[in-house]
Amino acid sequence: MRYHIVTYGCQMNVHESEKIAGVLKKEGYEAADSIDGADLIVFNTCCIRDTAEKRALGNIGALKKRKKSQKELLIAVLGCMTQQKGFGESLRETYPFVDIVLGTNNLHLLPYYIRLKKPAVKIETDDTYDVGVSTETFRTSYPNAWVNIMYGCNNFCSYCIVPYVRGREISREPQEVLREIAFLLGEGYKEITLLGQNVNSYRYGDTDFAGLLREIDVLPQKFRLRFMTSHPKDLSPEAVEIIRDSAHICKSIHLPVQTGSDRILKLMNRKYTAEHYAGLVKLIKERIDGVLVTTDLMIGFPTETEDDFQDTLRLVRECEFAQAFTFVYSPRLGTVSAEMPDLDAETKKRRITELIRVQNKISKSVSETFTGKICEVLIEGTDSGGRFVGRTDNGRLVAFPQDGEYKIGDFVSVKISASKSASLVGEIV
Ligand code: 5AD
Ligand code: SF4
Repeated sequence: MRYHIVTYGCQMNVHESEKIAGVLKKEGYEAADSIDGADLIVFNTCCIRDTAEKRALGNIGALKKRKKSQKELLIAVLGCMTQQKGFGESLRETYPFVDIVLGTNNLHLLPYYIRLKKPAVKIETDDTYDVGVSTETFRTSYPNAWVNIMYGCNNFCSYCIVPYVRGREISREPQEVLREIAFLLGEGYKEITLLGQNVNSYRYGDTDFAGLLREIDVLPQKFRLRFMTSHPKDLSPEAVEIIRDSAHICKSIHLPVQTGSDRILKLMNRKYTAEHYAGLVKLIKERIDGVLVTTDLMIGFPTETEDDFQDTLRLVRECEFAQAFTFVYSPRLGTVSAEMPDLDAETKKRRITELIRVQNKISKSVSETFTGKICEVLIEGTDSGGRFVGRTDNGRLVAFPQDGEYKIGDFVSVKISASKSASLVGEIV
């Protein structure tokens, strides 16, 4: 049997697809390069924004014809989209040709349902499945390895579906996390990225996030340590100092702000003000030399006025983000803000275009500060033009000509010769 997994959404899902692949490999299944060559197609879906959801539904729907002519083709839908209330069942009604629908915590049951050979729907949010140090994870992101430190979220931002589909926060035992990281470093991984919806609220017994970082940091190998995502209400000054003093933690912090308007922050249930946020970014930049801060921004939250939007632009200019992921608000079924009237599409379009324009200018000027510098870059892969690509410690993407002496997974010194908007060009020195 040959499988192909289509992944939607964030890094959390990319890593979950590695776990799905691991479970299938263990059963002796082989990976197919594309959907066309597969007997089993797994959609690992995401429902955080309606763009990802629409794409997944469109791709699933497109298989209807093929399933008619290829009866033995198996189609499985996994991921957080299936965890929405009643969604698994309604998907089976709208797309009856889908064979298997499983929730995020049931991915390990996939081989069982494949063997069962009859339509199955099993969705549960409880019984968190923790792969831990497992040979079952089939990793595809070398030299980086993703490591979950926690699952779920307790924050209930009013626009967000994650707490409903992924359940409450559960932190993994620190010894488990450390064992997994030690194993991965032994295997030759050069970068570890800790994953959690809100890593700063990690807690297991007496170990909090700062404590966990400290324990990981004493591992002796040369490696980079990254983490995502941080919440501005929980990132502690202690964690900032640990990042500054660490041998391994990268000087790059992803700190989603969403909006610069206090009124909208309140409606979003984010539990901080724009002033607190700007103060935190200031502290981070003062304490950590060369740090780059990136963010998530969302425009078009219900009732957002022109003044609210101007507050966001002001904060964006003040914080000088190295890069920002920009989103247009979309109502998610069952969330608090879905009850509020949605803004018109034209206003949203105008604001997102303006926001992207302002941020692009800032991203470009941040990139320009790199010109002429020599940076340590971890070679992560190659681009379509055959150049090596990698990132600086503080997260800037760099492309540079290949050199036969080096390979993916090596650390090299790169002299930056030019910059584009959010990326750099250089050569190994
Ligand atoms: N609409 C638009 N963007 C959203 N995000 C989360 N929920 C929504 C929504 N309903 C964005 C936030 C978050 C990122 C992962 O996705 O900016 O930080
Ligand atoms: Fe969603 Fe807020 Fe939790 Fe992030 S912190 S996953 S935006 S509820």
